[in-house]
Formats: sequence, structure tokens, C-alpha cells
Amino acid sequence: KNIPIPKKLVLLGESSVGKTSLVLRYVNHFFDSRTEPTIGATYLTKTIDFPKYSLRLQIWDTAGQERYHSLAPLYYRGAHGALVVYDVENLDSWERAKEWVKELKSNGDPNILIDIIGNKTDLDIRVDPVEVASYCEENGFGFTETSAKTDSNVDEAFSNLAKKFKVD
Ligand code: GTP
Repeated sequence: KNIPIPKKLVLLGESSVGKTSLVLRYVNHFFDSRTEPTIGATYLTKTIDFPKYSLRLQIWDTAGQERYHSLAPLYYRGAHGALVVYDVENLDSWERAKEWVKELKSNGDPNILIDIIGNKTDLDIRVDPVEVASYCEENGFGFTETSAKTDSNVDEAFSNLAKKFKVD
């Protein structure tokens, strides 16, 4: 089988939306309700196989707390893809997600692929998914609603983005 092609992927979003939980669910298949806020950023890798090739996802899970905001460019620069995460129960986190998109567009790689994740669908959904879907449609972003807790759509959220990476 061919050697996996490295692709850099970054998770961005307000603190406590569940970025670390999504990565731990995706890579290590577990959920911990008492994750600590990320400091700086955490790095994990995962190989994802497609019929004709494999990718080595180099996943940077960034810290959402505002005090770490100035570090974010270190992680999103040179990234092939970004997963911008909000919490479906938290309206502010959706506003913050749109701010992250603006920052990526003004400061990130012009070719970066962006998808939006609405996490915590096991809780009350307060952010209107119709609004998010139309925003994503206008911008050409993918949109996946997930629960890291119940393992709903987590694999899909990563693979939906990964399958859009160019490999030639
Ligand atoms: P920062 O590292 O500060 O940026 O936070 P984060 O976005 O990485 O959030 P984290 O994964 O640490 O999760 C914050 C809290 O939300 C933790 O208590 C998680 O257990 C909880 N959480 C994460 N995902 C879900 C989910 O899908 N459902 C529910 N109910 N809780 C979740």
C-alpha cells in the first residue's frame, strides 16, 4: 500500500466547545467529561484510508481560551484544512466561529479548506442549523453536526474534510 500523504489539519473555536473531545473521540475512541482546557495546542496524528490512497492527518488541537489567541497563527499557517467548531447549545460560540473564519480568510493560507462543526448535539440545540447550513453553503464550507459524547458523526466530520484534500 502507498505511503500515507501528510496533511495538516487544525481545530479552532471558542473554549469548551469540545475540540479536544472531538480529537480524542476520533483518534483514541474515548470520551472524558472532565477534559482540562488545552494550553497552547496539542498534536495527534491519524491515518485515514481511501480506496486509492491514504492520508496521514497531522491534527493540531488549539486552545480556545482568549489568552492563547495570539498563538493560533502558528497552527493554522500552512494547514491544509481547518475544522471550526461551535457548541450547538451556545449562541456566542457560533458568533466566535464566524470570527475564526474571518481570521482564516484574512490571515491564513488562501487555499485552506474550511469545514464547520456544530458539536454537542446530545444537548439542547439553540443555534439554528438552517442558518449555519446556509452560511456554509454561501461560503463553500462543509457542515457536520456531532456529539463527541455519544460518538455521533465524529468520524464523518473528519473524513468529510479529509476527502476534499488534493493528493496529486
Ligand atoms: P479548550 O481546550 O479550552 O479550547 O476547550 P475544548 O474546545 O477543547 O473543549 P473540551 O473538549 O475540553 O470540552 C469542554 C467540555 O465540554 C468538557 O467537559 C467536555 O466533556 C464537554 N463536551 C465535549 N464534547 C461534548 C459533547 O459532544 N457533548 C457534551 N454533552 N459535552 C461535551
